Amino acid sequence: MQSEAVSHPNIALIKYWGNRDNELRIPANGSISMTLGGLENRMTVQFDAKFETDTLMINGKSAAPPMLERASRHLDLMRRQAGIDAGARVESVTNIPLGAGIASSAAAYAALTLAAASALGLELDQRALSRIARRGSASAARSIYGGFVELIAGDGDHSSFAKQIVPADHWQIIDLIVLVDEDIKHTGSTSGHALAASSPLQQSRIVDAPRRLKVCLKAILDRDFESLAQIVERDSDMMHAIMMTSEPPLHFWNGDTLQIMAVVRDLRAQGVSVCYTVDAGPNVHCLCLPGSEADALQALTDAGKRPWRVLRGHPGPAARVV
Ligand code: PMV
Repeated sequence: MQSEAVSHPNIALIKYWGNRDNELRIPANGSISMTLGGLENRMTVQFDAKFETDTLMINGKSAAPPMLERASRHLDLMRRQAGIDAGARVESVTNIPLGAGIASSAAAYAALTLAAASALGLELDQRALSRIARRGSASAARSIYGGFVELIAGDGDHSSFAKQIVPADHWQIIDLIVLVDEDIKHTGSTSGHALAASSPLQQSRIVDAPRRLKVCLKAILDRDFESLAQIVERDSDMMHAIMMTSEPPLHFWNGDTLQIMAVVRDLRAQGVSVCYTVDAGPNVHCLCLPGSEADALQALTDAGKRPWRVLRGHPGPAARVV
């Protein structure tokens, strides 16, 4: 009973922060993302009654115990569904920096869900897979699909799932991911979500989410970059305002993050089609149209006091069994 799956991370254009239910990972608000081709997680899962415990290797090294426990709990969901009790040997190979706010968990849990479901012989459609992936990491629900994707928050396990808005070839947007810090972030998203409700600003952010989702959806459907840029930057800043005002506060930005955000705003004022968005870490995703990529990359390279590594993503395909 062995299967291999490949999946891609995604960058949230309208972000999810905070859960309505932490255990089931029912997000407090809906979100929209672009699946990122160019970066991937390749996951092999083998179940065998001979394996007494689960094991997890990431890029050839044994994963830390908390990571293995989380993966095991995720596998339990599918083992229960299949009525199978075998241990699993899981191997992940990825080119995504781990735990640095580059959605490594989204790609990991989408691939783990798909590979495990296939190895266990569970016949599940994409919606069902996205609901299971959500239990591992809510953003993983979006990586089940390719292109531009919405995660409907819902109010319970059955109504909280992702769906595709348009496929990858609808709009070529490039994501230049500027890595200012590749270290594992000080607070993971799971503990971050649990703090969101302690910010007095979170309620207003959630109440306004349907409006932001609508503006973003229209910008994607109309391929209207300027509208997309404005809502994406505002939404990212709003999420970080929650983080900075929660108890205890979370500060993910550093000086380089702020500098890049300023460079991007200046570029756009000069007519370069680029905008920024920042997840739960200091690294900056600079989204641009292909015609603006060279100018954006040049300006970002010139701005760095030291050379920053830049990863490149583009609208990518759905997670798939290989
Ligand atoms: O899926 P998680 O628990 O890793 O949370 C993702 C949180 C953000 O990346 C900051 C936002 C998002 O919607 O992807």
